[in-house]
Amino acid sequence: MLAAKDYPSMFRELTRRALKPIVFILCLIPLIWLIARGFTGNLGANPIEALIRGLGDWALRFLLITLAVTPVRIVTGWLAVARLRRMLGLYAFFYATLHMLSYVGLDHLFNWSVLWEDFVKRIYITFGVSALVLLIPLAVTSSDKIVRKIGGVVWRRLHRIVYVAAIAAVTHYFLMIKAGYTEPMIYAAVLIILFGIRLYKKWA
Ligand code: HEM
Repeated sequence: MLAAKDYPSMFRELTRRALKPIVFILCLIPLIWLIARGFTGNLGANPIEALIRGLGDWALRFLLITLAVTPVRIVTGWLAVARLRRMLGLYAFFYATLHMLSYVGLDHLFNWSVLWEDFVKRIYITFGVSALVLLIPLAVTSSDKIVRKIGGVVWRRLHRIVYVAAIAAVTHYFLMIKAGYTEPMIYAAVLIILFGIRLYKKWA
């Protein structure tokens, strides 16, 4: 029979095993929600624009949540949270890719000449593409096998790019809108705070 003293460690073990699958399913909810709204005609007057924007919002949110993992560990001492970082980062990349694909495929029907014109003429598109391109090497090098191959030091240096990608993504949002800067300002503030916590920890 289990003694009362065994329950805390059992609970810890259960949390350890359940954490990743639970977070994996939670991260799919925004996508399922957007698809469900699309199929039921609840994406508003311009469903393609709403889909692109919804996916862009979640790409940026997941990117910031990924960046929050280390500060959360530093501030709370919750070590297990670090095991979620790779999955959250891959979700940011996944949502960003779907965001780009819905813009290229649904909004522009793969019309490459118009897309190229957009890329060179609209500076916010240039920033969006840059953010996505910067995320590619991070997604590609996320497996344990690659980390072992290139070594932890190189991997950590490479993965600092994530901050440049996040700055490019927030800039992309700022440049896209013409009025109502509250939301991108919130994202920018979150990014500055997260970066600040890391710097404080490094220099303190
Ligand atoms: C190839 C890369 C990308 C392209 C072509 C692209 C394109 C777009 C377009 C066309 C819009 C909507 C503009 C409008 O409705 O007027 C948009 C909005 C947005 N994008 Fe991107 N984007 C890219 C990458 C990214 C990345 C990597 C992120 C974040 C990690 C991101 C986050 C956002 C956000 C937050 C919005 C605003 C959503 C809103 O209005 O609520 N984008 N993007």
